Amino acid sequence: RRGVLTIPVVVHVVHNPDNPEQNIDDEQIRSQFTVLNQDFRAANPDVSQVPDVWKPLVADTQVEFQLASEDPLGRPTSGIVRVETDQEGFDTDDAVKSANSGGADPWPSDQYLNMWVCQLVGGLLGYAQFPGGPPQTDGVVILHSAFGTTGTAAFPFDGGRTAVHEIGHWLDLFHIWGDDDGACSNDDRVADTPNQADHNLGAPAFPHVTCNNGPNGDMFMNYMDYVDDRAMFLFTKGQSERMNACLEGTRASFIV
Ligand code: ARG
Ligand code: ZN
Ligand code: CA
Repeated sequence: RRGVLTIPVVVHVVHNPDNPEQNIDDEQIRSQFTVLNQDFRAANPDVSQVPDVWKPLVADTQVEFQLASEDPLGRPTSGIVRVETDQEGFDTDDAVKSANSGGADPWPSDQYLNMWVCQLVGGLLGYAQFPGGPPQTDGVVILHSAFGTTGTAAFPFDGGRTAVHEIGHWLDLFHIWGDDDGACSNDDRVADTPNQADHNLGAPAFPHVTCNNGPNGDMFMNYMDYVDDRAMFLFTKGQSERMNACLEGTRASFIV
């Protein structure tokens, strides 16, 4: 592909009227799109904090995101759907993705990235479905207070990076440590990210060496680690190639 690909997004705000703050305002939603379109284009102001050794790996993925302007029937839309629920909070069981279980049905997931924003239980910030799964549950789910940078967005997840991370999964990226619980035996199937033992939290000091990956150590400032929003700054070229391969393959329906 040549040039920038823009993915149409529908945001389903699923809120409980007993907790009005769950019904986040349009400004908070727009603030999330600002972050997405900076981070996926390597135009985020904090990209300058990538350690010098890895600056050559910083990728502009050439992917952008936009609230849908046409609904599935071709009518004008804001791309924002607001649905009341009687649920206190949602889990990873996909209940938020169906009106029958107190959530909101997806728009056709071969044409729209569905984003559900809601209360989540158990400290969960968000979760995503990888490419190739059932269309009825395809998309990403984000905790309202880890969404965007204004309104209910709360430190340390008030930088909009949960959605960046989850969309990374939606475009086929694995966690940078390979989900092997510190074993050094599995990696993320991306050649230019160092093999690292486990996830990192908070805002680590560089370098943090594991799995004999010295002297530079873990690329903990990657969006696919678990550090705080203020401590993650890049996708690599290898990750960008993997996401764009997904957009040429399993998710080719987005290329118009
Ligand atoms: N725990 C979530 C996941 O595995 C997302 C973590 C996002 N991290 C952040 N700093 N916002 O998908
Ligand atoms: Zn993840
Ligand atoms: Ca590992």
